[in-house]
Amino acid sequence: MVVNVLGIETSCDETSASVLNSDFDILSNVVLSQDEIHAPYGGVVPELASRQHLTSIGYVVQECLKRAQLKLEEISAYAATQGPGLIGSLLVGLSFAKGLAYYFEKPLIGIDHLEAHIESAFLETRDIAFPLLALVVSGGHTSTFFMKKKLDYELIGKTRDDAAGEALDKIAKFLDLDYPGGPVIDRLAEKGNPRKFFFALPHMTDGSLDFSFSGLKTAALKLIKEHKISKSHPRFFDFLASFEMAVIQTLLRNLAQAIKLFKPKSLILCGGVARNKKLRQHFTEFAQKRSLSSFMPSPVFCTDNAAMVAALGLEKLKSGKKLFFPLDLNAYPRLPSFQPFSKQKK
Ligand code: KG4
Ligand code: ZN
Repeated sequence: MVVNVLGIETSCDETSASVLNSDFDILSNVVLSQDEIHAPYGGVVPELASRQHLTSIGYVVQECLKRAQLKLEEISAYAATQGPGLIGSLLVGLSFAKGLAYYFEKPLIGIDHLEAHIESAFLETRDIAFPLLALVVSGGHTSTFFMKKKLDYELIGKTRDDAAGEALDKIAKFLDLDYPGGPVIDRLAEKGNPRKFFFALPHMTDGSLDFSFSGLKTAALKLIKEHKISKSHPRFFDFLASFEMAVIQTLLRNLAQAIKLFKPKSLILCGGVARNKKLRQHFTEFAQKRSLSSFMPSPVFCTDNAAMVAALGLEKLKSGKKLFFPLDLNAYPRLPSFQPFSKQKK
């Protein structure tokens, strides 16, 4: 039976639609970024984001179907991001998908954004051994999940304040760099020496696997003021390289802790910050040193995209669980609350 799943992603500032067939082949994946709209403000403006999704969503879906050479009648199921994300943005994609599913009487599958990021690692290889640990590093989230098997997600750590991407973006903004700051720091830090500035790495005193990046951000701001760091400072690139390295080490040190406790066979790195070249390199070496298999999506699938949403929709469809047509499916802005992980409980 031919199955085509249309995925829709509008959780933040990318309007995206994608179609996958039953073999997980990506028939098309259209991503329309709103970077230009938010750049003058140095960050995502939620109201502008939802309005832009509303303007673009129809065209993005149209273009996606055109590239996949499919008609809406040939779509067998819809998958749309439910949360976490910006509520106004989420509602645009979810409502659009709901309307289509209702009209064509097809299933609609609500997708969690962080679970979709993890699924992005499976887009290019289906062959990842479980159990695994997945580190989701994006602009809004820094979270670690333990997965015993497919579709089984246990959140074991998350950031208590800023996300890693958010910290990179905020420091870039402070230094008057282009938006979004993460990719700019990635590019400029290559010219610097990461050992020139010292950052004390944050660690949780309660034994939890949570993250915190606001301390690093404050330390960076203090150094910027102390050394009067600006684009014209002779050690500007060294500063960026050192800050980037502190973020990478914080992520990997936390992952090392989680590996000791959960003993996974594979590691996944995903989310927008997983595009970072230094992080990719250090993550690969980190896994090799521990004889673990490591997986990262190609850069294009690290940042928000609907291919990962459609893939997780297809996975859920194939799992055989009964899918209802939920007309009451709603969006949620935040991660569901969870008990912080503590070693004592293990
Ligand atoms: O996953 P994503 O597209 O959106 C969220 O779900 O938040 O991630 C966006 C984040 C931004 O903070 C952006 O600066 C960061 O990913 N990012 C990068 C790079 N490319 C995107 N950070 C570091 N290096 C990059 N090359
Ligand atoms: Zn994301």
